[in-house]
Amino acid sequence: MEKTVMINCSPKKKWSVSGFIMRCAGLMIRGRKEYLHLRTPDNRKGILQALTDADKAVFVVPLYVDSLPSHVLAFLKEMEAFCRENNLSLKIYVIANNGFIEGRQNEPLMQVMEHFCSRAGLEWCGGIGIGGGVMLNVERIMIPIMFGLMILNMVLRGSQGENILEPVGSFGRTIGVFLLLCCGIIAFGVRLAVHINRGTNAGKRYTRIMLPSFIFILFADIFFTILSVFQGGIFRGWFSRFKPDIGCSIIAAKDH
Ligand SMILES: Cc1cc2nc3c(=O)[nH]c(=O)nc-3n(C[C@H](O)[C@H](O)[C@H](O)COP(=O)(O)O)c2cc1C
Repeated sequence: MEKTVMINCSPKKKWSVSGFIMRCAGLMIRGRKEYLHLRTPDNRKGILQALTDADKAVFVVPLYVDSLPSHVLAFLKEMEAFCRENNLSLKIYVIANNGFIEGRQNEPLMQVMEHFCSRAGLEWCGGIGIGGGVMLNVERIMIPIMFGLMILNMVLRGSQGENILEPVGSFGRTIGVFLLLCCGIIAFGVRLAVHINRGTNAGKRYTRIMLPSFIFILFADIFFTILSVFQGGIFRGWFSRFKPDIGCSIIAAKDH
C-alpha cells in the first residue's frame, strides 16, 4: 500500500487554514497517510524520517511575502541534502493558500517548489493555489455556530408548538452558500486528489473563494480595522522612542 506524507507547513500552533485543508484533502487520499506539522526546527527530523518509506508528499503551505515561510525554506534546504544522500524518489504535490483573493499569487511559491524538486532529485507533480484562504477559517467557525443556533431554534419552536423543521431549511441554505463560495476549491481539490491517488502530474491550477473581489476587500477591511483597534491599539507608537532589540545591537556593533 502506497504511503503519502501530508505536511502542514503553517507556523501557527492551531487554527491554521493549511491544517484544515490538509485534513480535508487527506479524506480523499487513499492508502497509508501520515499527518505532520512543520512548525519548528524540532519537527524536521521526524518529517525526514517519515519520508524515507513514503511514495508521495503533499506540502500544504501558506503564502508568506509572495513565497514560502522562512522556516519551510530552511527545511527544504535540509530535505534537499537528505533526499540526495538517501536516494529518495518521492512525488511532490503542493496545496498553497494565501490571504489575498487571487489564487494566482501563489505562482512564485509553486515555482520555488518546482525548482526545489529538480535540485533534490524529486518528481514535481504540481498542485493548487487557493486565494482568500482565510475565508475557509471563517466558514469552519461559522458552521458549528450556525448548527448550534439551528438546534436552539428548533428546541424553542418545539416548546411553542411551531414547525421545528423551518430552521433546518435556513441552515441548509447557509451550507449551500458556503459550498458555492468554495466550489472552485472543491473541484480542484477533488481533481488533485485523483492525481495523487494515481500518482500522476496534476499540473498547476489556481482558484479562489467565489466572492466578487470588491465584497471580499470590503469585509477584509472591516475585519482588519476591528483587529487593529483591539490588537494594535489606537495611539500606540505615535511618539515612541526607538529601542533597538538584541539583533539590531549586534548589527550596530558589527558596523562599528
Ligand atoms: C508574515 C505573513 C506574510 C503574508 N504574506 C502574504 C502575501 O504575500 N500574499 C498573500 O496573499 N497573503 C499573505 N499572507 C496571508 C496568509 O497567506 C494567509 O493568511 C493564509 O491563509 C495563512 O495560512 P495558515 O493559516 O495556514 O498559516 C501573509 C501572512 C503572514 C502572517
